Amino acid sequence: MSKAILISEHGASDKLHYGDVSLEKPSDGEVRIAHQAIGLNFIDVYHRTGLYPPPSLPFIPGMEAAGIVEEVGPKVEGFAIGDRVAYGAGPLGAYAQARNIPAERLVKIPDGISDREAAAMMLKGMTTEYLICRTYQVKAGETILLHAASGGVGQILCQWASAIGATVIGTVGNDEKAAIAKKLGCRYTINYRNENIEKRVMEITDGKGLPVVYDSVGHDTFEASLNCLAPRGLLVSFGQSSGKVPPFDITRLSQQGSLYITRPTLMDYVKSTDQLQRSAQALFDIYQSGKVSINIGQSYALSEAQQAHDDLENRLTTGSTVLIPE
Ligand SMILES: NC(=O)c1ccc[n+]([C@@H]2O[C@H](COP(=O)([O-])OP(=O)(O)OC[C@H]3O[C@@H](n4cnc5c(N)ncnc54)[C@H](OP(=O)(O)O)[C@@H]3O)[C@@H](O)[C@H]2O)c1
Repeated sequence: MSKAILISEHGASDKLHYGDVSLEKPSDGEVRIAHQAIGLNFIDVYHRTGLYPPPSLPFIPGMEAAGIVEEVGPKVEGFAIGDRVAYGAGPLGAYAQARNIPAERLVKIPDGISDREAAAMMLKGMTTEYLICRTYQVKAGETILLHAASGGVGQILCQWASAIGATVIGTVGNDEKAAIAKKLGCRYTINYRNENIEKRVMEITDGKGLPVVYDSVGHDTFEASLNCLAPRGLLVSFGQSSGKVPPFDITRLSQQGSLYITRPTLMDYVKSTDQLQRSAQALFDIYQSGKVSINIGQSYALSEAQQAHDDLENRLTTGSTVLIPE
């Protein structure tokens, strides 16, 4: 048995139910992990509401956690009881005290990184790695725009991009968040609740626009994001915390300067074990270099997942959030 959060029907946070679930022995290729910390992500909200449908109902949400291997199934190589491990690209099932998981989706946590930090960095940090190193390779001297700069992905991305030498413009929802984003490397911040994003970006870039915009807010920022691009610029639309991007006429891309749009997802960038290990290694390397810190803005008991979801959706969190199994 394990305590876990179970979702039996889609809906608001009251659909997250804490209770007992049974746990079999690990199958071929699996290990059992005793979770020490679980990462909270906006994708958990999309799974809960059904925007991203899970494979079946009921299900245990959560794509990211860190813990200790407590049992090794048949045909597993490279992992032993007692190893400290983490994952950040699923499969679903992280909101639990313990779980079985394919060993090929795990990485070992290096010394010097705590379980809580690992749970706070894997999904958001590997997302940052692929967004700024592979979807578009951010270069020193470039100016980029990042929405929700004080959020989970936002805090890691603004630090990593400024470590590369880019000038980062970050949008935020209030002045406290602006101060956080500035401290973490945003040269400019825009409070998009009361400032015009396009106007400020054009002032900052002397009317030239930007080579790339990273937009995870979706509905509320999509138009402004497109309008901030330089000719042949790239809009990376990687989330929809404010709602889905509305239907879009593709001819606008030619009218506005032969623009590009991509809608990437982490799962396609860490599909193979090799891609997963390389992405995690790049994250651990930048963290251990001291150029990127992992800030856990808030933590909750696993049984308080409902409150954690409410706070994330109500824009009350900053940085990463972890759930701690009791
Ligand atoms: N495609 C991928 O591979 C991938 C991977 C990871 C995450 N993501 C996406 O990246 C985004 C960030 O994820 P996260 O877990 O790090 O969350 P987060 O950024 O910590 O939280 C979301 C933030 O979005 C901003 N926001 C703006 N309008 C909002 C609205 N109407 N409702 C709620 N929030 C709003 C808020 O910051 P302000 O108050 O400052 O506006 C809020 O704090 C999500 O959209 C997520 O789906 C995508």
